[in-house]
Amino acid sequence: RESALADRFGRRITYLRVSVTEHCNFRCSYCSPAEGTPFFARKDHLQVEEYDRLIGIFAGLGVRHMRFTGGEPLIHPHLPALIAAAHHHEIGKISVSTNGLLLARKAELLKQSGVNNLNISLDSLEPEVFARVTRGGNLQEVLLGVSAAISAGIPRIKLNVVLMRTENGHNLGDLVRYALAQHIDIRFIETMPLGQAGSEAQNTEFLSASEAKSLIETELGTLYPAFRPTDNGPAQLFQFAEHPRSQIGFITPISDNFCATCNRVRLTASGRLVFCLGQENGMDLLPLLRGSSRDEEIADEIRERIWQDKPERHEFVTDPERSSRIFMMRLGG
Ligand code: GTP
Ligand code: 5AD
Ligand code: SF4
Repeated sequence: RESALADRFGRRITYLRVSVTEHCNFRCSYCSPAEGTPFFARKDHLQVEEYDRLIGIFAGLGVRHMRFTGGEPLIHPHLPALIAAAHHHEIGKISVSTNGLLLARKAELLKQSGVNNLNISLDSLEPEVFARVTRGGNLQEVLLGVSAAISAGIPRIKLNVVLMRTENGHNLGDLVRYALAQHIDIRFIETMPLGQAGSEAQNTEFLSASEAKSLIETELGTLYPAFRPTDNGPAQLFQFAEHPRSQIGFITPISDNFCATCNRVRLTASGRLVFCLGQENGMDLLPLLRGSSRDEEIADEIRERIWQDKPERHEFVTDPERSSRIFMMRLGG
């Protein structure tokens, strides 16, 4: 349709990632400084009605997939209402990315809300490693969460593993075996230098997807390319011949850039629309929402700005002065 979002590089934008809170109950070493990050003032957080209005505007602009992220989205008291709003505006596909800590309690509610896809971060199956990487997280609670999500019958469940040479590089096979046993998908992600924590993790822990794939194949046998739906994210997908129900994915922001097929923009919990994960440009929607603009005017402005300013590809900000101001917890991965 003519009002759909697109950019100057011929990409259609049909996917909105919504960070519903910058707060998180973990402090993963590649994401957050140990002491946490500064928070926005409460008054600058989008209200449920404002999310609802924005979701309607983005639906009108052709967005057909929304993912709720954080921080940790399950700590937002009104997440089910936001999911309901996305359904109300006929978004189509609705996903959630969680660290799993609250999942044992909330999986059923997510299922009832109509979540189609659930991505759960799980970086290690060794309790000490898990606790160190998340800075205090309890592995057992997250594993109970994964089981609860499976029992609740959420249609598509994927595990997200951030690759870290010394922390989990030696145990990738265990993580794959776990996913195969549960008949769920698993993806391995190259560490990105996002913010100071990400930059430090990348310097000390980087492990490439191709090396990770070799390690897994040495342990578990040949991975064959898997069928890849066209509206899929950046993961390259594989599977084992004898385990057709689990896909093994690799996300390669560093070793194999996938920006040419980017279909997404991001919304922070304070109403900033960010055009790319690895760059700073974006626009603040809060003043528009709280001013006298009509929906059509806001939609026009969003369309215009994405067209003008969505960058061709990520250029990670590694200058410590500037990178210390970028927080993954605000952008939601
Ligand atoms: P699905 O494949 O539909 O599940 O979506 P997804 O790949 O967007 O899922 P998810 O939110 O789990 O993202 C997985 C990892 O890919 C995260 O670590 C993200 O940071 C990374 N990622 C997602 N989108 C982008 C992107 O636009 N650019 C970069 N550089 N990384 C991304
Ligand atoms: N590099 C790569 N992935 C990251 N994530 C958080 N920080 C980074 C980083 N610096 C991942 C989380 C989660 C997803 C939403 O983003 O592990 O799976
Ligand atoms: Fe929280 Fe996710 Fe960041 Fe870990 S990676 S601190 S779970 S937002």
